[in-house]
Amino acid sequence: MAQFRLPPNSRITRGKTHHAPAGATNVRRFAIYRYDPHAGENPRVDTYEVDLDKCGPMVLDALIKIKNEVDSTLTFRRSCREGICGSCAMNIAGGNTLACTQAIEDISGDIKIYPLPHMPVVKDLVPDLTNFYAQYASIKPWLQTRTPAPPDRERLQAKEEQHLIDTPSACILCACCSTSCPSYWWNSDRYLGPAALLAAYRWLVDSRDEATGERLDALEDPFRLYRCHTIMNCTNACPKDLNPARAIGEIKQMIAVRRL
Ligand code: SF4
Ligand code: SF4
Ligand code: FES
Repeated sequence: MAQFRLPPNSRITRGKTHHAPAGATNVRRFAIYRYDPHAGENPRVDTYEVDLDKCGPMVLDALIKIKNEVDSTLTFRRSCREGICGSCAMNIAGGNTLACTQAIEDISGDIKIYPLPHMPVVKDLVPDLTNFYAQYASIKPWLQTRTPAPPDRERLQAKEEQHLIDTPSACILCACCSTSCPSYWWNSDRYLGPAALLAAYRWLVDSRDEATGERLDALEDPFRLYRCHTIMNCTNACPKDLNPARAIGEIKQMIAVRRL
């Protein structure tokens, strides 16, 4: 996918206001980032007044209502509506989260919605995640073995071993963590970021995997791993309550221990 970045010196301008229908009494204002890199115009923020008496409770409900009833050009990703697919991640009221699990009533004032920060924008609220996914692929997120599997059964794990991979496996690759990480903002070309590193950790602690040494070799790099400075934004941002910062710390510890 083509990479789009804002032109130099571009400013975000104030766009249109779409007023609520006459007679609406429970109105909230949604200020939404609009940008089409093909249009050759600066980004703008359009304001949409939504009658919450005729809208579902989540921010995604409002976005869908706006797109269906007011402005079909508004572009955003969504799929599951249940906090599982990760596609509706965006910056809402100053924090990265999932639009489908963010309740409107938990936000005060106008609701400001931007794409995930510091990513190229494909259009409006859709970031280009090409690099993010390439980084995920680079950690080889699959089981690597050398010994043949038992002929009569799958590779088994004890319950305690399985428990180690349960939590990191719950990552939905929404990118809320990586795009809230200042180290990732400035070095996303070389620093893997918390999402990819959490995925790397998931395979490092998998008792069935036999490529631990190679995996650690690939991570032992001043940029790929050590650009994490334990700022913790990633863990605070994760809408699935995962802790990528701790996983990164444990990877660093694994590397330190094997040096002893
Ligand atoms: S803990 Fe590391 S990965 Fe998480 S936000 Fe801070 S620097 Fe980024
Ligand atoms: S760790 Fe959390 S915030 Fe990061 S990609 Fe996974 S689910 Fe999203
Ligand atoms: S639509 Fe799937 S996580 Fe929000």
